[in-house]
Amino acid sequence: MSIRTICCIGAGYVGGPTMAVIADRCPGIQVTVVDLNQARIDAWNDPDLSKLPVYEPGLDAVVGRCRGRNLHFSTAVEPAIAAADMVFLSVNTPTKTKGVGAGQASDLRWIEASARQVAACAQGHTIVVEKSTLPVRTAETVQAILSAAQGNGTGSGQPKTFAVLSNPEFLAEGTAVSDLENPDRVLIGGDDEGAIEALAEVYGHWVPEQRILRTNLWSSELSKLTANAFLAQRISSINSISALCEATGADVQEVAKAIGFDSRIGHKFLKPGPGFGGSCFQKDILNLVYLCSHYGLHEVADYWQSVVNLNGWQQSRIARLVVQRLFGTVTGKTIAIFGFAFKADTNDTRESPAISICADLLDEGARLTIYDPKVNESQIAGDLATGASKPDSKDQLLTEGSWSKVASIEEAVKNADAIIVLTEWQCFKDLDWQHIAGNMRRPAWVFDARSVIDAQAANTAGLSVWSVGKGTQQNIS
Ligand code: UDX
Ligand code: ADP
Repeated sequence: MSIRTICCIGAGYVGGPTMAVIADRCPGIQVTVVDLNQARIDAWNDPDLSKLPVYEPGLDAVVGRCRGRNLHFSTAVEPAIAAADMVFLSVNTPTKTKGVGAGQASDLRWIEASARQVAACAQGHTIVVEKSTLPVRTAETVQAILSAAQGNGTGSGQPKTFAVLSNPEFLAEGTAVSDLENPDRVLIGGDDEGAIEALAEVYGHWVPEQRILRTNLWSSELSKLTANAFLAQRISSINSISALCEATGADVQEVAKAIGFDSRIGHKFLKPGPGFGGSCFQKDILNLVYLCSHYGLHEVADYWQSVVNLNGWQQSRIARLVVQRLFGTVTGKTIAIFGFAFKADTNDTRESPAISICADLLDEGARLTIYDPKVNESQIAGDLATGASKPDSKDQLLTEGSWSKVASIEEAVKNADAIIVLTEWQCFKDLDWQHIAGNMRRPAWVFDARSVIDAQAANTAGLSVWSVGKGTQQNIS
């Protein structure tokens, strides 16, 4: 079976870029991305490509090439499913906030709803592909829902039949387009040979055959959770060592470089920071913990839980350290926050370490001036919704525990007592520290949680500098 029409349910960070690259590389396939969120679909259809709802380097060019040709964005979910040979499920699967498994298990209500829509609207034979990251054995649920509709007659006169595949996405935000265009591997899990080969043929348009791996459904689902858990574990490992470096006088950059030369360890994913964020790492590990507990593997569950615990500790230790260095109080002090996104080159703030660090400082009464080149104000307002207020007048700006989103670095640092670098945006790497220091209130600090600034230049300009895993270069001038 050769695929001619694809429908992707969910026009988010995964569905949008993935389908754009499939459409770009497979001009013979019509790809329709559907979403219930009208504003999101409107943004995908905006003639101004700088207004796409997902910011990813290179994505505007890909969408510009294919949109209207063989890439379509729509809220008309049912006809798009009916016309599709293959339906990707790319909906949100956040951690449950209440009920059984709250705080650990994934909330599968959107997966179930979209599977039910496919069951109701599909015509003839349809291959259903799980793209969202899911707990192991979710395909069983999807299969059960689809099976209930299987065999019913359809408008085309053909009985409905389904095959379910797992095809997890390994793209990282900020490099989504290049990860999709040149993946380390594509993983396809399933037990229906025909369906597996049909999906392999889609990827075969641009991915070398030896990088297309085929496994059973459960291995594919578990591989995604395991890959993310291993990556997150490396970050917690290096962050734990960053604290030890600060205590002992070692330099975490030097330690990371030294261990990375061991080819068994390698250099990647050894950057210390304020802790990992993003929609996947924490959610996937919590999922793994839940699964292990469910199967009675409590030691295994505790092992992975410690990776998440260390991540939370790194965030709170940075907030505490800022308060300590600023003479034990930040009440009424202005602190410039450099970067709110969970990493550079994305406008995504999900699970960003900036959220908890800012929340802790707001609790302590700080006034935060937040600068991020891509994150918009309403996003920050949503993330910081609990607790401190957004000032809406000049007078309120003078109150304690408030924040404002500012449009420039200059505005952020005006009369600030400290700067905290939380995202490694390029624009923070090459700053005029003399100029910045001249606008701050002395004694002033820079806390570089990403180790990206020119610490020497900041120090020479009269600022005390703390860098993660390196400690402090104090300036008492
Ligand atoms: C991750 C996985 O990399 C990707 O394969 C999966 O599909 C989705 O989850 P993503 O969350 O987009 O991708 O970004 P990633 O580059 O993995 O970074 C995650 C977090 O870890 C970020 O907050 C980042 O700043 C942090 N990080 C990463 C570090 O602190 N140090 C590092 O060395 C690498
Ligand atoms: P991800 O990072 O996994 O792509 P997002 O939250 O960015 O997650 O995107 C998921 C998208 O899926 C959202 O835009 C949401 O509106 C959409 N969605 C969820 N359920 C459905 C559904 N049943 N039909 C259509 N779209 C859906």
